[in-house]
Amino acid sequence: MVRLVTAGMERQPRQLPAWLLYDAEGSRLFEAICAQPEYSLTRVETSLLETRAAELAAALGAGVLVEFGAGNARKVGPLLEALRPPAYVPLDISADHLQAACEALQARHPRVPVLGICCDYSALGQLPAHPLLDGQRLLGFYPGSSLGNFSPEQAQTLLGQFRRLLGPGSALLIGIDQPKAPERLEAAYDDAAGVSAAFARNLLVRLNRDLGGTFVPEAFRYRARWEPAASRIAMALVSSRDQEVQLAGRRWQFRAGEELITEYSVKYSPEAFTALAAASGWRTARRWSDPADDLSLHLLVPGPPLQAGAQAADSGCTAPEQGEV
Ligand code: AVJ
Repeated sequence: MVRLVTAGMERQPRQLPAWLLYDAEGSRLFEAICAQPEYSLTRVETSLLETRAAELAAALGAGVLVEFGAGNARKVGPLLEALRPPAYVPLDISADHLQAACEALQARHPRVPVLGICCDYSALGQLPAHPLLDGQRLLGFYPGSSLGNFSPEQAQTLLGQFRRLLGPGSALLIGIDQPKAPERLEAAYDDAAGVSAAFARNLLVRLNRDLGGTFVPEAFRYRARWEPAASRIAMALVSSRDQEVQLAGRRWQFRAGEELITEYSVKYSPEAFTALAAASGWRTARRWSDPADDLSLHLLVPGPPLQAGAQAADSGCTAPEQGEV
């Protein structure tokens, strides 16, 4: 973590990995964001998953359901009921969340064996061997538009990894938030109640606690800005004055107005996402959208073999990390 944070602080502009936002307090604040009137993504996607559960299950077909970054796993319920998979495998980096989610889900869906794996899903090369997974077709589930936190290059690498992990006969159901009116997007990421701002500032609190930081969170303003050229929201803390902070054993200067990017949220049109998926070896077989066409669920299936050039982006392949399981 020290190395990642130091590298992020040395970037121009400064940018820290988005997953650092999710300590216990950050996870609580993110749930509060999902309940804000301006942030409709979670509500819209949840209702799409509920109303289309039967269709989604039929289109996915039989197989073990693997959720990437399951968190509290609060979206998968209707799909589990409709699909009745031979096993549900939630992957999450937080052991506490994963354990709680597995227990709650197992109680609610006693007929589906739940097999939680604590890992960084972006670094998992393959699932561990387990009798419940033996010879099963794998179905990926990646809701929430979390792909937007990655740069398009990283996103392409990640989708390629999912493709290899899930295997040749697989399918991947993925939720993708789409570009919409900039005012709506900026409001969604900077709500009137200030929860998004608190979520970003909590990163500084966390760095103070975990890496001996001396940030004064109140000395940074929060802003969320739509960047049309990159089709993304950039979330940043902006230093309100010239100041020096200590972090990870070093001293860092911030000029007044200097930014620390806390996270990007890239938005993909259906066409842009389909192109990205194709470059990672996937084809969009079907797409579902809400009535306002704010976001979509894409059903990806393995596509035609990649051209030699396109495979370069796949080289982020990592060895299986069974030690983390
Ligand atoms: C969890 C990455 C999907 O980008 O909408 C929401 C994170 N950050 N508000 C998003 C987030 C601030 C969220 N994702």
